[in-house]
Amino acid sequence: MLTTQFGGNTPRRLSTSEATREGINMGPTVVVPPKHLMAPSDASEIAAALETARHHVEEPVSPITPPTPHETTVTDKYAFAFDIDGVLIRGGRPIPEAVQAMKMLNGENEYGIKIPYIFLTNGGGKTEAERCVQLSKQLELEVSPGQFICGHTPMREMAEKYNTVLVVGGEGEKCRHVAEGYGFKDVVTPGDIIKDNQDTTPFRKLTPEEYKNSRSRNFAETKIEAIFVFADSRDWASDQQIILDLLMSKGGYLGTRSENFNEGPPVFFSHNDVVWSASHDLTRIGMGALRVSLEAMFKAVTGKELKTTAFGKPQIGTFEFATRLLQRWRKETHRIDSPPDTVYFVGDTPESDIRGTNEYNEHAQNSWYSILVCTGVYQAGTKPRFQPRATVDTVLDAVKHGIEREYKKTLRASLVQTGVISE
Ligand code: G3P
Ligand code: MG
Repeated sequence: MLTTQFGGNTPRRLSTSEATREGINMGPTVVVPPKHLMAPSDASEIAAALETARHHVEEPVSPITPPTPHETTVTDKYAFAFDIDGVLIRGGRPIPEAVQAMKMLNGENEYGIKIPYIFLTNGGGKTEAERCVQLSKQLELEVSPGQFICGHTPMREMAEKYNTVLVVGGEGEKCRHVAEGYGFKDVVTPGDIIKDNQDTTPFRKLTPEEYKNSRSRNFAETKIEAIFVFADSRDWASDQQIILDLLMSKGGYLGTRSENFNEGPPVFFSHNDVVWSASHDLTRIGMGALRVSLEAMFKAVTGKELKTTAFGKPQIGTFEFATRLLQRWRKETHRIDSPPDTVYFVGDTPESDIRGTNEYNEHAQNSWYSILVCTGVYQAGTKPRFQPRATVDTVLDAVKHGIEREYKKTLRASLVQTGVISE
């Protein structure tokens, strides 16, 4: 197996307090987890940053994996990409096999190799850096924004296009801050709108804290140019009322009504998962369900069709984004300057993970190999709507499957080369 020597190119470290749009875009960057989770390090720049990072993540902690020796080699032949909810995490807790799967990728396998990997989740609601700090704790290893994409990550590319935008979803002010971090210049939230006119939502009143955090402005003079649903709505009724008001407005001015209902701003969703895998035994409705609901409601109220746009998996653009991220991660962290022959994508949702991987595989230059696990949305024994290349129980089985498959490919190639078997 062709390998490259690991080491030599130390990734830049980043804390949530230092994370900037540029920093997150540039990679490779390592989010610094709290000190008690860190392997011995010579980094001296961590002190203040660690405190900030610690405040962002409040789950209980467990010890981090000891560092793998530097002589471990890194394969340049293949890589892994992981979905998160239902594969690695469920309801904020790691799926039991996930920690061992990560260790296996980091060299604890019978071949003594490291395998590069990235994370590609439709989830969101916090900055990429903040989410990586949290994931680092959950999986007991360092996860960098340079190897992480969430549902709203590609939305940063829209920041130049629109001036004033409505950002919906997530906890408190978090998504406003994410959007501002992406470079959006003027971000309005549903809270701002309710603060300005509490009659907007007859059954929702702002809490004192929401009232304090919401910003006052004159909406009669505010043209909202686009609506971005960054994360799951915490209050469907009031969020949908506000989105509907804007969609029916004259050019994005609240309080106005269009005659033809054709003048409202565009709506973007960070993904389209109708259901997802949380802590409940059964799947829970997600952002895709809100999208369906909004489109149906618009039709019921106006008689017109509403066209909305979703980012995230299974969109090809998201997988192209992932390809670029993986390429940069492998180059800058592992000094590998060529694409992997195969990327193993491990997911639990046939409609997003398996569909996206299979469709991307059709026109990617390398092979994208879909593996479906049974720890999330997909239920063993049912027929998935999109067929994976392999179905396994857990993420650990998925990692073993990819490693074994690669081993067999290499073995076969060497037997062909030495004339033991023919092609
Ligand atoms: O809300 C997040 C969920 O819909 C899916 O996340 O990690 O399974 O892509 P993930
Ligand atoms: Mg999932």
